[in-house]
Amino acid sequence: MGDKIRLDISGMLEAVPSIEEEIRDIRPKLAAAGEAVKAKEDKGLLGFFSLPYKNKESGEIKRLAEHIKNNYENMVVVGIGGSALGNRLLHGALNHPYYNMLSLGERGGCPRIFVLDSIDSDHLQSLFDVLDLEKTIFNVITKSGTTVETMSNYLVIRDMLQKKVGPEKAQKSIIATTDASRGSLLEIARQEGYRLLDIPGNVGGRYSVLSAVGLLSAAVSGIDIEELLSGAAYTAQACTEQDPYKNQALMGAALQYLAYRKGKAVSVVMPYWDGLYYFGDWYCQLWAESLGKTISTGGRAIQVGQTPLKAIGARDQHSLLQLFLDGPDDKIFTLIEVEKRRNSFVIPKAGQGGEGLNYLAGSTLEKLLQSEFQATREVLAKRGRMNYKITLPEVSPYIIGQLVFLYMLMTAYMGELLGVNAFDQPAVEEGKKITYRLMGRQGY
Ligand code: PA5
Repeated sequence: MGDKIRLDISGMLEAVPSIEEEIRDIRPKLAAAGEAVKAKEDKGLLGFFSLPYKNKESGEIKRLAEHIKNNYENMVVVGIGGSALGNRLLHGALNHPYYNMLSLGERGGCPRIFVLDSIDSDHLQSLFDVLDLEKTIFNVITKSGTTVETMSNYLVIRDMLQKKVGPEKAQKSIIATTDASRGSLLEIARQEGYRLLDIPGNVGGRYSVLSAVGLLSAAVSGIDIEELLSGAAYTAQACTEQDPYKNQALMGAALQYLAYRKGKAVSVVMPYWDGLYYFGDWYCQLWAESLGKTISTGGRAIQVGQTPLKAIGARDQHSLLQLFLDGPDDKIFTLIEVEKRRNSFVIPKAGQGGEGLNYLAGSTLEKLLQSEFQATREVLAKRGRMNYKITLPEVSPYIIGQLVFLYMLMTAYMGELLGVNAFDQPAVEEGKKITYRLMGRQGY
C-alpha cells in the first residue's frame, strides 16, 4: 500500500520563530473552519469527500477502460479547467514521461492518451495529423455540459469523425462525461446514444479529479485507480481533527492563512520532481479559482486570494529562484520532495580535463537534486522566507491519491479561513456570458 505523505513545518519555524504561537492564537478560527467544512460535508454539499468510496462507479470505469483498451489505440480527453487538468496531473505523475512514445507492448497494451484543453485550430489539426481516427476514442468532459471551448471542440471532432469513420463508428467513439441531470452535452449524448459517465451534482470541476473525470483516462492508461482512491480515503480519514498538529490539511491551510495575513500574496508550489509539473497546473487552478473572491460568504466586499505560482526544482533554480530569494518578500513556498525515485544514475568520473568535476564522481543525480532541494530550503530559511516541506515517500497511485485529497481539503479549509465560498467561480461565469454574447448566443 505504500507509505504516507508528510508535511513538515521546520522550515517555517526557522523562517518565523514565532509561528507556533501564531498557530496557537488562531486555533479557535481553525477549529471553526474545521467544523464548517465538516458541516458542509455532512449536508452532502462537498461531493469530493465521497468520491474515494464510490466502488460501484470505479468498477464500471475499470470495465469501460478494459473495453477501450481492447478496441482503441488512442484516447483523447476533451475538456478544460477542472475537466482536463486532473487528467494531466495523473498522467504526468503516474505514467512514463514519454508514455505516448512507448510501443504498445511497452505501454502494457494501453492506448496513448492525449488531452485537448485549448481552442486552437493548429493544435487540433496537429492532433488529427497524428491520430488514426478509426482507432481513436474521444472522452468529452464538461460538468456544466455547456462550456463553449469543450463543446466547440466536440462539434468539430464529431463532424470530422462522421466524415472519416462514418456516423455509426463516430457514435461509438465518443464518451460523454457530464452532470447526470442537466446541460447540452447530456441532451446530445442521449440523442446520439453516446456512452455516458456521470459527474455527481455536488462535485465541482476543480474537485472532480477522483470522479469519472480523471479516473477513466487514468484507468485506460493502466493506472491503478483503486489505489488512487484508497490513498484519497486515507487522507480523508487522517484529516478529521480540528487540531492542526493532527490534521495536515488544516496545518497547511493554517500556514497559508498566516502567511497571507503577513502579506504573502503569492503561494509558490515547487516540487523537486519533473513528474509533478502538472500537479503545479492543477494546484494553480484549485487555489486561484477557489479562493480568489471579491465577496465574502456573508456578502461583504473583501477581495481576497493568494496568487498561486508553480515552479519546478531544479529547473527553476536557474530561472525563478533569484526572484524568490532576493525579490519582494511576498511569497510562501511549499517545497515538495520525493524520497524514493524510480531510477538512479551514478555520475561517472569526468576524466582528463574534467578534474574540476571530480567532486561529482560516484555520486548520483538524485543526491544532487536532493542537495539542491536542501540548499533551497536553507537559503529560504536564512532569508526568513516562509516555507514548509511536503515529503512524498515515493510516487505511486496511493501517494498521489493522498496528495490530491490533501490539497482539495486544504483549499476547503482555506476558503473558510478567508471567509469565501471555495466552490463557486462567479467571475469566470461572467466571462463565459460575455463570450456567449460575442458569439451571438440568444439571451446574452
Ligand atoms: O472548477 C471549475 O468549476 C471550472 O474550472 C470548470 O472545471 C471549468 O470551467 C470547465 O467547466 P465544465 O466542466 O463545466 O466544462
